[in-house]
Amino acid sequence: MQLDALLAEIKDGVLPVHVGIIMDGNGRWAKSRGLPRLEGHRQGALAAERIVRFVAKENLFPYLTLFAFSTENWSRPKAEVEGIFRLLEEFLREKADELVESGVKLLVIGDHSRLPDGLREAIRELEERTSRNRGLTLAIALNFGGKWAILRAVRDLLRAARSVAFGPEEVREELFRAYLPTGELPDMDLLIRTGGRLRVSNFLLWELAYAELYFTDTLWPDFTEEDLLLALKDFQGRERSFGGVR
Ligand code: IPE
Ligand code: IPE
Ligand code: MG
Repeated sequence: MQLDALLAEIKDGVLPVHVGIIMDGNGRWAKSRGLPRLEGHRQGALAAERIVRFVAKENLFPYLTLFAFSTENWSRPKAEVEGIFRLLEEFLREKADELVESGVKLLVIGDHSRLPDGLREAIRELEERTSRNRGLTLAIALNFGGKWAILRAVRDLLRAARSVAFGPEEVREELFRAYLPTGELPDMDLLIRTGGRLRVSNFLLWELAYAELYFTDTLWPDFTEEDLLLALKDFQGRERSFGGVR
């Protein structure tokens, strides 16, 4: 089917509000071509750029979270880790004006403290420059782990409980939810994972509670606008009952 026809069909149906993508398969993409892993990450950054531009332009859904680097990815060779951070900094600096102008609001969720200074600065600047934008909210999960996020929320809550003096019974779902790094995002409706692995790999945990899961063997650098539309079409065929009866 033509991309435009597919797009029109999908826009006619119920769309998710929050989509997350585990962008996996960069290394295998490079390996299969005899290229260094970092080249896979470079092509992966281009795929991310393509998808963000498409979602923003077509106004497909209001929240997109991309998993870029997990708390476990530090176990990779130092050169690969540094290369990924360099690519991310380049991406944020080169695309800054386009992101600001296209109405994207950037949030980087994850533990910033261990990131290189230049990258931290690029994040701070772009979060500030896009903070008043009202278009697509783009969250990049960077040095992010679902377990880290929940632990951080618990620690912050305990500190708040001590200083504002509230008791354990006041910690209800909405209150806890606000302490997560995704506090300003709704729970996830659709999780897409490329690269053929059938797991969550410590991505958002709480927010995934009722997400529809979509796995594809396509490696992330090969993921196109059409692949995204196919995932959305699949989502539109799901029956969501949230524990109830339908
Ligand atoms: C995902 O691609 C990108 C990051 C985790 C940073 P991988 O680098 O995990 O690619 P594969 O899974 O080795 O192919
Ligand atoms: C998940 O991919 C993390 C990101 C895409 C950033 P990994 O390649 O790190 O996950 P595992 O090791 O296959 O579970
Ligand atoms: Mg991987």
